[in-house]
Amino acid sequence: MHYLRGGKNGCQELIKGFRKILLLIGITLLEVVFVSCDGKGADEQVVTDPIVTVENNNTEKSINNKNEGEAMDIANKKNYKELYEETGELPSLAKVYSEYFTVGVALAGFDFTDSKKTDLVISQFNSITCENEMKADCTLSLEATLAKGDEECPAINMERAEVALNFAKDNGLGMRGHTLVWYSQTPKWLFTVGYDTSEEAKLVTREVMLKRMENYIKQVMEYTNTNYPGIIYAWDVVNEAIEPGDGREDGLRVKNNYWYEVVGNDYIEMAFTYARKYAAPGQKLFYNDYNTYEKNKLFTTYKLAENLKEKGLIDGIGMQDHIKLDYPVLTDYEYALKKYGELGLEIQITELDIDAKEDTEEAQAKLAARYKKVMMTLQSLKEKELANITNVTIWGLTDDRTWLSKEDSPSYPLLFTQEFKAKEAFFGALQDESVKLY
Ligand code: G3I
Repeated sequence: MHYLRGGKNGCQELIKGFRKILLLIGITLLEVVFVSCDGKGADEQVVTDPIVTVENNNTEKSINNKNEGEAMDIANKKNYKELYEETGELPSLAKVYSEYFTVGVALAGFDFTDSKKTDLVISQFNSITCENEMKADCTLSLEATLAKGDEECPAINMERAEVALNFAKDNGLGMRGHTLVWYSQTPKWLFTVGYDTSEEAKLVTREVMLKRMENYIKQVMEYTNTNYPGIIYAWDVVNEAIEPGDGREDGLRVKNNYWYEVVGNDYIEMAFTYARKYAAPGQKLFYNDYNTYEKNKLFTTYKLAENLKEKGLIDGIGMQDHIKLDYPVLTDYEYALKKYGELGLEIQITELDIDAKEDTEEAQAKLAARYKKVMMTLQSLKEKELANITNVTIWGLTDDRTWLSKEDSPSYPLLFTQEFKAKEAFFGALQDESVKLY
């Protein structure tokens, strides 16, 4: 109670002290108001996520540069759009993110016949994925299998996949191999006695199926590694094997899944075992799935990957990321990335697209903001070494060709228009400063 002992003088000192404090509070408030009027909006202030610091820092730098009249530093300023409007030169996604991860695009066979498309792909991306042509229903040949007549070894035909493989080889692109073992897009005859296609066909035994599985993986890997060495840098060995809706504690997809039905619980581990056996040195093996940020899928996927990692069979987790404008919330998304990051495995965003049902300016601005936030999250986690993200692949090139569009319900989820024009979403994916976050 020291200040009371001072009597009247003590009180005056106390009042002076309060005045000083009030003055200081006033100045601080003025500074806050000044900063928030400085063109840097509520956007960044609303978000408390550490990721935003990345953007704030970059923006801060650009503002300072402007004030100081320094030469334009494109990398820091991130005003790619302005530059594009001035020069007509589109920045390259692959170059912009080169110190963090490769950037890829999924393409269908016929995409490679249009030189406008392929020019765009070469200038923007350094990785490609076959949208369908490396799935078992494309790579397996019933005719050749029947002609061969080997109950333990189906025959493959890589003709449709070769279009993409040749394109990657000719243009110095890497490729993700999608996918070896999947419950879907795999013909039922692969599982039947005598490769029988009839309704009454009987399923083979586990032993025969394991031989077929090994021989299929062996042939596809050996064929691609021999003819296209170094092109496929990652394989989605098993795709979408977790389905919490099927009701099992381990989350395994058991319904409508012949791999599970014929081989049993360990079909995933066996697929990885064979893939490891035939993979080229350095080729990475991934488990790939959707909704991997949803809690019920996250922990089962984590557990599956952890078990495979203990056995030295897996190198990475593929988060497909077919997401929506407002789902998932980014905190859940970031949590999942960090959680998988804890496993010490690589993470690849293998099938990114964001469903946007409208082509209006408003909806597309939201899409751009969403791409920006996703890319900020990914870059930031990589920078902070919280998740070893090594690739981000966009699931499609132009809006006219996306699996999300149904006959009566189109979607506009990608980075380019049908006319190959860069959309706002493209600049969002570049984290361009012109793209507002909210
Ligand atoms: O090739 C046939 C054609 O001969 C036939 O006339 C036509 C009639 O519908 O179908 C054509 O096949 C279609 C195929 O794409 C090739 O265009 C199938 O119907 C169609 O179902 C298939 O869709 C693909 C889907 O996987 C199948 O599951 C999409 O293009 C492809 O983008 C999508 O990709 C999947 C990933 O592999 C795994 N993750 C989810 C992702 C989106 O569903």
